[in-house]
Amino acid sequence: MTRLLFIGDIVGESGLAYLETHLPGLVEQHQPHFVIANAENLDITTGGSGFGDCGMTKESLARLFALPIDLVTGGNHSWDSPDSDMVHADPRVLRPLNYGLALPGRGATILCKHQVRLGVINLTSRTALPDADNPAAALEQQLALWHDQVDLVLVDFHGDSVTEKLAFAYTFAGRVAAIVGTHTHVGTMDEAVLPGGTAYVTDVGMTGPSEGIQGYAPEMFVHNVQHRLPARGFPLTLATGPVVLGAVLITCTDHAATLIQRL
Ligand SMILES: [Fe+2]
Ligand SMILES: [Fe+2]
Repeated sequence: MTRLLFIGDIVGESGLAYLETHLPGLVEQHQPHFVIANAENLDITTGGSGFGDCGMTKESLARLFALPIDLVTGGNHSWDSPDSDMVHADPRVLRPLNYGLALPGRGATILCKHQVRLGVINLTSRTALPDADNPAAALEQQLALWHDQVDLVLVDFHGDSVTEKLAFAYTFAGRVAAIVGTHTHVGTMDEAVLPGGTAYVTDVGMTGPSEGIQGYAPEMFVHNVQHRLPARGFPLTLATGPVVLGAVLITCTDHAATLIQRL
């Protein structure tokens, strides 16, 4: 039996500080064999003048890897930070496999622990990054490449559309152990094991401050949506509510999932 703990989009200093306080206890309690976290919103970088100013700094990433986290995934914000080249030089950091082949980083890796080979693939939908290559074709290609090199496969599928995420999951149901959705920062309550043993959730939800929009103060988004103009005078700042945890625990047998639970 293998347990996978997946933590949804970590947002900002308070999300990171929450994990520094609580992740060791969660790991002690649930004993996951692998811990993976999406960290595309770990920091506000490049001055916080707009919603393209997220990503990860090398300092915050070092704090994250001081915790029991094996691998970090990304999304449309993977390359926002000025530290992006350094961040993606770390083999424990993934970015979407099906976007910008010339950009730094890798989109898939194999983690080997406890005599289990876990393949992890980070993909983006075209709702999160419109210029992305076909995510299904990218996954087919990666599965063919790995062939018998992995025991279990987990996919972080980064996207906006519920239908797109579900259709993607049913396309690969029974062929991978887990497809977990990220990017909206809003956790969905549809976690289920699909036919053939694929654990699925449309969105794991964020690990970050509540009482805002996706972990950020609402003003910039409200202005932008109301006026369709850059929200000058409203920098990207974090929300200040209590931190919420977006995370799922997936239990697998040899090659398939048997249970997915929201923590
Ligand atoms: Fe995100
Ligand atoms: Fe995203």
